[in-house]
Amino acid sequence: MEKKRGVDVRVYDIILKKRRGYELSKDEIDFLITGFTSGDIPDYQMSAWLMAVFFQGMSVEETCNLTMAMVHSGESVDLSHIRDVKVDKHSTGGVGDKTTLVLAPLVAACGVPVAKMSGRGLGHTGGTLDKLESIPGFCVDLPKDEFIKAVNTIGIAVVGQTASIAPADKKLYALRDVTATVDSIPLIAGSICSKKLACGADAIVFDVKTGKGAFMKSEDDALCLAELMVDIVRGAGKRGAAVVSDMNQPLGYAVGNSLEVMEAIDTLRGEGPEDLRELCLSLGSLMLVLGGKAKNTEEARISLVNALKTGAALSKFADLISNQGGDVRVIDAADAVLPSARCLEAVPSVQSGYISEIDAEKIGVASMILGAGRRTKDDTIDPAAGIIVLKKLGDKVDEGEPLVMLHTNNWDTLEPAAELVMSSYKVSQDKPVVPQLIKQVIED
Ligand code: URA
Repeated sequence: MEKKRGVDVRVYDIILKKRRGYELSKDEIDFLITGFTSGDIPDYQMSAWLMAVFFQGMSVEETCNLTMAMVHSGESVDLSHIRDVKVDKHSTGGVGDKTTLVLAPLVAACGVPVAKMSGRGLGHTGGTLDKLESIPGFCVDLPKDEFIKAVNTIGIAVVGQTASIAPADKKLYALRDVTATVDSIPLIAGSICSKKLACGADAIVFDVKTGKGAFMKSEDDALCLAELMVDIVRGAGKRGAAVVSDMNQPLGYAVGNSLEVMEAIDTLRGEGPEDLRELCLSLGSLMLVLGGKAKNTEEARISLVNALKTGAALSKFADLISNQGGDVRVIDAADAVLPSARCLEAVPSVQSGYISEIDAEKIGVASMILGAGRRTKDDTIDPAAGIIVLKKLGDKVDEGEPLVMLHTNNWDTLEPAAELVMSSYKVSQDKPVVPQLIKQVIED
């Protein structure tokens, strides 16, 4: 490679080209990602390129090429031994988002095979693996052949994502995190889609959250991200669909691992919160259509509602738990089986009126303080800790009435968590307009 005053000319030219707002070729993007992953391209040059992308953006074609370069930086999971169309789902993360716990058994009960690789939680949002691991004995580390066998026999398996998936994204994300370049829509889309595509599904449904508790604060940005991700998976020869959903308040009432498992079981039994049920039906309808199990979303919804009514979805969750070593008694005796907290404290409202605002992110952080989440990836979590939200947007509240119930095993966390919860609620005298849960749907 030619050198110009000690600088690698090709990388320099690519940075300059992007800084000037031109579109990069597939070769240039492959060269950058391969060189960065191998360590040949240093962090300082990649940081400059990231900042150029942040300001100049990327075309859909560039973003597809970036995504595929990151997919090819590691292993791709071969799901071809699983019969039928595999449909995955990805959520951009929210507070109280236990959707996968309900959705995975629900769609599996309707015949869509679920071969799910999930992550752990970090910061104010929780991860599916942590939630499932609050069920005593539940194992998320199945060997590959057992994972495939489980999906072919019972139709469902949920395991942890391995480090060999899209290593370029892992390295790039760490750099974005310290260079103020995380919140770039093409970089986010490439990052999410590279991991999802490497996990081997034939079709992917995205749940892009928007609002105070979400990564995408504005609905326009959320829609833009959703459309771009659907374009990327289609560009990769797969099928895609998306929902933009509200995260201006926690989803359902439970926030925290074992509390969320209990709420998921209630929902599978047909008794859960309306917003969680509705989101699962919306995402599930898209999944059934993509999986070829329904002609359209209306027909899909009928099958899903039926699987909830007959108990087939709950029974599929029991199959998942027992197949992965979990204590299946949790289905009928969740209170007795799941870890529960020693210290419970209500946080009262200081005034009467209607709940007009709940800062979901603060509720997520409060739950993390109580022990339910991780500040850094090496923190341990307390499966029993969390928050039960008792008042949601539009609800009437009297002075002194509890807004939430805090659950923890560490008394010292109660005060800071309570303060944060208090500051997250606003009460008004007029009944507010409650934001719509499903804001946009992008069908296949
Ligand atoms: N989640 C990801 O996986 N990547 C991003 O860039 C942002 C959120």
